Amino acid sequence: MKDFPTVSWYQVLKNRKSILKNPLPFHHYNFEKLGDTFKVKIGPSGTILFTRSPEYIRRVLQKQHKSYHKSTLQTRDLAKYIGKGLLTSNGEHWRTHRRMVQPAFHKKKLEGLLGIMHAAIVEELERIKPDEVQNIYPLMGDLAFQVVAKSLFSRDDIQGQMAQLKEISETNQKMLIREMRQPFMNWWFKLSGEIKRHLSYSEQARTILDGIIQERIDSGTEKDDLLDMLLKARYDDGTPMSRAQLIDEVLILFTAGHETTANALSFTLFLLAKNPDAQQNAFESISQVDLEGDNPMETLSKLTYVKQCVEEGMRLYPPAYYVDRVSIERDQWGNHSIPKDTMILLAMYELHRDIRFWNAPEEFRPERFDAANKKDFQEYYYPFGAGPRMCVGNNFAMYEMTLVVAEILKKHEIKAVTDNVEINPLITLKPKEVVLKFVPRKKGEPV
Ligand code: HEM
Repeated sequence: MKDFPTVSWYQVLKNRKSILKNPLPFHHYNFEKLGDTFKVKIGPSGTILFTRSPEYIRRVLQKQHKSYHKSTLQTRDLAKYIGKGLLTSNGEHWRTHRRMVQPAFHKKKLEGLLGIMHAAIVEELERIKPDEVQNIYPLMGDLAFQVVAKSLFSRDDIQGQMAQLKEISETNQKMLIREMRQPFMNWWFKLSGEIKRHLSYSEQARTILDGIIQERIDSGTEKDDLLDMLLKARYDDGTPMSRAQLIDEVLILFTAGHETTANALSFTLFLLAKNPDAQQNAFESISQVDLEGDNPMETLSKLTYVKQCVEEGMRLYPPAYYVDRVSIERDQWGNHSIPKDTMILLAMYELHRDIRFWNAPEEFRPERFDAANKKDFQEYYYPFGAGPRMCVGNNFAMYEMTLVVAEILKKHEIKAVTDNVEINPLITLKPKEVVLKFVPRKKGEPV
């Protein structure tokens, strides 16, 4: 039985400062030196298995997914702040709720949400300051949050509560990152009451959501939005979700759906700014499309090249740059035996830039995603994961991001101000800031 090469604890300690700042170069170095799958010692006894092997990634996510669960990073650490729902559970609990939540994200259902989504996007984009240099990342964060909020609740009059919810979600995420990055400080976080304080913020978030849900029920109205769909979802025995479970699922949609989208959008806008030819192509491709058309699904179907720009953006900067799993039983993969309880990180960032599978992987080339080429890279491209736990909001996110980029390009030319974007790999792959200038396009400007 072949063992995997191992990066020693000493190497980790020696590089700890750069790993804390950005672990990706350290991992890249190890992949190049040791091959597609290797172990990293993370203490005297613990190890993590890193892989960028397309074969093993497919095995873990699809072929042999039953042997791999989500790790406690999500099912315990994240769950303590946002509850036990789709993103943060395993086994039967997850399966039951996936069956209930998934229909709300069905293409046909989403069609009904496109109007709400589009209106929220247009409203948020009014905050772009023409001709001024601005960091677009916070605006994309607000936009993505508002799109989830309005798709859930179809309300404009709860801005205060939504702002509070966003604040809590971000504060708690910061706390979680501290806990993950400094596990040796966890005794202090507990003793000092910090964790308790953050748990009380989560309680405040739940109270806010409870109030909004109660108002919907009391109003007796049907809105056909995400909340209505979750309220109508039934277990096999015909009963609805408990209030606590419903709140967990709502909190999870906010958590899973807003930062990922904001990251992908911000990186894509930067890449378009740095690649004026692709930007011009994208602009030309939409110049004849009426984004305000009566049939939003038909409008979206005309935005193919813009969609490809977003796909290419997520290839270079996948928000879920690592997907974590733990083996729940021994797995035999070729010559390798993966013992039970092995922590595994699937390195999507590496795979998406692997020169063996992508021509000129560092370049932004939306043409790669032409329909004719799609099957060529299916096994090397996982922005939304794969298999039964694939992102439930993937269509929602693609519709949203395509509309945002199209709306921006229609009205503005995007100019880069900096050479690069500094990345900030935390739970998701974030940019530190994305500084851009938006120059308004003149009406009637020739294409
Ligand atoms: C660019 C945007 C997005 C990206 C890149 C993204 C990526 C992902 C990935 C990679 C997973 C699978 C994680 C794993 O297998 O461990 C996932 C799961 C999930 N995503 Fe997304 N996501 C995005 C947007 C959204 C949106 C907009 C929503 C909802 C409004 C959403 C809701 C979820 C949920 C609930 C799960 C858990 C599904 C399950 O385990 O059954 N995501 N997402």
